[in-house]
Amino acid sequence: MRELIENWDGESVVISYHAPTDTWIFIAIHSTVLGPANGGCRMRVYDDPEDGLRDAMRLAEGMTHKWAGIGFDIGGGKGVLAVPGPLDPDARRQVLHHFGRLLRSLNGAYCTGEDLGTTPEDMATIAEEAPEFVHGVGVRAAALVDPGPYTAFGVFLGIRACVHHVFGSPELQGRSVLVQGVGDVGAPLARRLRDSGARLLVCDTDVALAGRIAQELDGDVVGPEAVYHQECDVYAPCAMGATLSRHTIPKLRCCIVAGSANNQLAEPEDAERLYEREILYAPDYIVNAGGAVALPLLGKGHSEEEVWSRVRRIEGTVEGILREAKEQDESPVHAARRIVERALANKRREPVTARP
Ligand code: PHE
Repeated sequence: MRELIENWDGESVVISYHAPTDTWIFIAIHSTVLGPANGGCRMRVYDDPEDGLRDAMRLAEGMTHKWAGIGFDIGGGKGVLAVPGPLDPDARRQVLHHFGRLLRSLNGAYCTGEDLGTTPEDMATIAEEAPEFVHGVGVRAAALVDPGPYTAFGVFLGIRACVHHVFGSPELQGRSVLVQGVGDVGAPLARRLRDSGARLLVCDTDVALAGRIAQELDGDVVGPEAVYHQECDVYAPCAMGATLSRHTIPKLRCCIVAGSANNQLAEPEDAERLYEREILYAPDYIVNAGGAVALPLLGKGHSEEEVWSRVRRIEGTVEGILREAKEQDESPVHAARRIVERALANKRREPVTARP
């Protein structure tokens, strides 16, 4: 872990071990240039706790990019609960409360929200200890906010922008889209795609779930082993990160990659590998920012209508990035990165206002 931390370009990590549940907790604060660090809390089993720390660091960096990409004055952070295995409800509450107390001790340096492996109900449990530092709880009387549908909408718009760019029309009728992972984001995304006439290919490690969604949406199931060489127009990774790598990219038979998973590229060079194969890649943190747009705005009392229209702007952002990438003859990741760098540089230039 020491080497990981020494070589990280982020600001700080907070590590806590919860002995009663044998859970390692990592909070990675990547950048507070734009504001206090915010980002979801992931719960997962890792082979080694160190992998959890690595994940937290990479995801926190992704959050810095995500907030900058949507122009919010919020910094990048992420929480990881590296559990030893599935927890029973009581143990789950215990570890979530422990996490909540940790958030309270940080006093706003990191605020959390839902992510892979956690639910809106988990956020409510954390909020019992640290209500002011959890997104999506107590926004509307007693209602919990699920960021999934907002994220799905942004990804849907991103896919449309990519289809427009590649095929000359945003029409999804008859386009085949492979959705890998039909959880809280993948499922609502699949429904939107289906409603727009797309032909769905559904994959999930939970094969029964894949079957149910495929049946509901008149799609076909693709086995987890067949995903990477499945022919389709759009491949939408909506589960784990790092599915695009030196091993998978040569197999791909799609024209577009656009999905909701965070950190889809195993390493930065994978953007060039996709580019060389003429596969259009929509930068993950741009298209999957819908939840990040929605949570703070809903928390500040903005109406549903305002929030959906703010999420809608993702389409224009993606269009701009794709246009610039084409002009520059480069992968869209570079144009996206320039948006981030500009936001950070502008903030660094802002005069620091003296506190009264
Ligand atoms: N975890 C989701 C994401 O990565 C939603 C989220 C956004 C949660 C921002 C907390 C804060 O976008």
